Amino acid sequence: MTTEQPTGTMRAVVLDAAPAPPEGLIIRELPIPQPAAGEVLIRVRAFGLNRSELHTRIGLAHGVTFPRVLGIEATGEVAACPGGELAVGQQVVAMMGGMGRTFDGGYAEWVVVQVQNTIAIDTGLDWATVGAIPEMLQTAHGSLTIGLDAQPGETLLVRGGTSSVGQAATILAKQRGMTVVTTTRSPARAQLLLDLGADHVVIDNGTIADEVRALFPDGVDRALELVGAPTLLDTLATVRVHGVACMTGMLSNSWTLPDFYPTGDLPRGVWLAGYSGGAGDLPAAVLQGYLDDAAAGRVHVPIGHVYAFDEIVQAHRDLEDGTYAGKLVVLT
Ligand SMILES: NC(=O)c1ccc[n+]([C@@H]2O[C@H](COP(=O)([O-])OP(=O)(O)OC[C@H]3O[C@@H](n4cnc5c(N)ncnc54)[C@H](OP(=O)(O)O)[C@@H]3O)[C@@H](O)[C@H]2O)c1
Repeated sequence: MTTEQPTGTMRAVVLDAAPAPPEGLIIRELPIPQPAAGEVLIRVRAFGLNRSELHTRIGLAHGVTFPRVLGIEATGEVAACPGGELAVGQQVVAMMGGMGRTFDGGYAEWVVVQVQNTIAIDTGLDWATVGAIPEMLQTAHGSLTIGLDAQPGETLLVRGGTSSVGQAATILAKQRGMTVVTTTRSPARAQLLLDLGADHVVIDNGTIADEVRALFPDGVDRALELVGAPTLLDTLATVRVHGVACMTGMLSNSWTLPDFYPTGDLPRGVWLAGYSGGAGDLPAAVLQGYLDDAAAGRVHVPIGHVYAFDEIVQAHRDLEDGTYAGKLVVLT
């Protein structure tokens, strides 16, 4: 399909080098990127913020080149697609595949990505709500399916439960009939987790295995680790024999275990998995189903706060400080 591609300039959030404070995120005028065959130009309407971009900004990410427009996800409409895989005007989400890391990402009014890193959607939801969902849902869904093979009726521990991924995992787990025990470091946030549908909330002071075992003496069937290496061994201690723990997140900014001694450190018969994924892990029907459920009021979308494009520095401050429980979203 031939389309007339938008040209001119756009506003984009650029990071010149890392580590940098939130003020290192500069809004600049850049040329609107032009898509090649196999790519799609998206008019970005909203983008979610991710810990990944925080890691990039504070200098913890590997393989990122600078200067870079950050953003591992974006939501909007197709503006041009030289190969014709997507129609102009199609609502679409994009995520991962190197976005905002090896090529310019979603913190912009326009972005070019590979078609394979997009998912077409059809929704009447407002852009802030849609923009909150893609990466959060992909990570929660991928962790429950690929990482944990979570099944109805099983028990699940979500460690780092107030994070956007943690809240989405709780919502999806309850949808599939699991019993969920989830965590926060803040007693004031416990009610938020109960309101999401969690069955039990444990206050995380760094060691929770005894408390979880008091609830489930044989251990939980599945455990989703979002806090990272400092809590992983304690999380493993909550899991039953032949249960699974999946390391997906590192909210602590720490993801390696020094002197890891598998035979001694891994509990007998407990399985450890990892998860990291991309758009291909989120079936279009699962995303569309979540959007439809959200539009019908059947499912909650855990949004922490919505910002205007000019508020990107404040948004990153809040991301770093954990000011809000839930997804931070920026409208372009
Ligand atoms: N593997 C993948 O493919 C993939 C993809 C996306 C995200 N992730 C990872 O998933 C995790 C969750 O991401 P997110 O964007 O959902 O996070 P987020 O919404 O920014 O979560 C922030 C919350 O995490 C909680 N937290 C618990 N322990 C913490 C600690 N030691 N330090 C800081 N915060 C802590 C805090 O809540 P309380 O104060 O209530 O405890 C904080 O408010 C991140 O580690 C991210 O890197 C992985």
